[in-house]
Amino acid sequence: MKTLVAGGAGFIGSTFVRRRLEAQPEDEIVVLDKLTYAGNRANLAGVEADRTSASRFRFVQGDIADAALVAELTLDGDFDAVVNFAAESHVDRSILGAEAFLRPGVLGAHVLHETTRSLAERRAASATRAPRFLQVSTDEVYGSVPTGASVETDVLAPRSPYSAAKAAGELLVQAYRTTYGLDTLITRGSNTYGPYQYPEKIVPLFVTNALQDLPLPLYGDGLQRRDWLHVDDHADAIGKVLDRGESGSVYNIPGTGERPNVELTRLILRYVDRPWSLVRHVEDRAGHDRRYAMNGARLAGLGWSHQVRFDEGLAATIAWYRDNETWWRPLLDADWAAYYVRQYGARLAGSVNG
Ligand code: NAD
Ligand code: DAU
Repeated sequence: MKTLVAGGAGFIGSTFVRRRLEAQPEDEIVVLDKLTYAGNRANLAGVEADRTSASRFRFVQGDIADAALVAELTLDGDFDAVVNFAAESHVDRSILGAEAFLRPGVLGAHVLHETTRSLAERRAASATRAPRFLQVSTDEVYGSVPTGASVETDVLAPRSPYSAAKAAGELLVQAYRTTYGLDTLITRGSNTYGPYQYPEKIVPLFVTNALQDLPLPLYGDGLQRRDWLHVDDHADAIGKVLDRGESGSVYNIPGTGERPNVELTRLILRYVDRPWSLVRHVEDRAGHDRRYAMNGARLAGLGWSHQVRFDEGLAATIAWYRDNETWWRPLLDADWAAYYVRQYGARLAGSVNG
């Protein structure tokens, strides 16, 4: 199978590429990634250094919204599948400025759909199987879920610019399926943690801050709940859906158990052996979703189950950040410092002890 992986230098995409090349010795992968602040070629260094993976792998730096580049790539490569991870992925940044989220979320998704459509037409002419298009989406498209668990047929009710851009991408998928008969799939993943996550999200932020004895800025009352999914499980579930998913379907990928943010914070501090006094209660995120929860029965029906328990996965992740300072230290550059001041400067100044 030859797959075009858009956004494959990010956190989940690079994990998918690494694990897929290892598990499927015949597979070939081309990664197309713009290398935004969150994209990192170092996430793929292991693939490029390994002889058996490297010969089946190619990296192209570019924007999924660049129609000419994407067309050229697909003329070169006769892909069996296109998997789209590419996105601006941080909710807080979408609140600071939404526009950047629309380019990959809407225009980029459109270009990838058009490309898959041309591929499908070429393949139909030569009587080969149509390419599959898998859009990597999120549980955030359901909005905040006070009780129960979202099922795939629930209405989309995004509440942040980030999740609205993700929902827009999903609507394009459905439109291209209905109008042009594309072979499409959508996955909606839960909050993901693990190695190689850019340190803006809560787990890597709190771990790297704690390791540096810096404050941990906990939003509002800290009682918002998230259902944590290890990145290996997320990547493998996407692979399962790509291989076995029913065409046109959406698949929830839940985590292994929801927890309030205060409890997650307590666990992180225990594993890094730092005091609770590092915690600062800061002004809440605007429009903060209180809870996400999904029903995973449809995915379980494909024969998939979690392999990583949360306590073990979190301990291993923290150990990884402790042992791989050379990966995350260079990310704390001038752009990071500017973002940090914008997002947390006033919040920390007006904070109270946890
Ligand atoms: P990430 O921010 O780590 O990676 C995103 C990647 O996309 C980066 O490598 C970036 O360079 C690339 N990219 C951004 N815009 C691009 C463009 N225009 N053209 C080409 N490449 C572009 O994000 P992640 O956490 O790995 O998330 C991957 C996908 O999974 C996203 O679509 C996200 O919405 C979704 N998702 C994430 C989570 C999570 O908890 N992290 C959970 C569910 C779903
Ligand atoms: O649910 C899936 C989504 O999970 C993905 O689609 C997104 O790409 C991913 O970023 C993540 O979104 P969240 O907003 O849930 O993740 P984040 O790590 O930003 O926040 C998790 C919780 O922690 C949320 O309730 C806000 C809180 N938080 C976050 C940060 C960064 C804090 O209390 N303090 C912080 O500094």
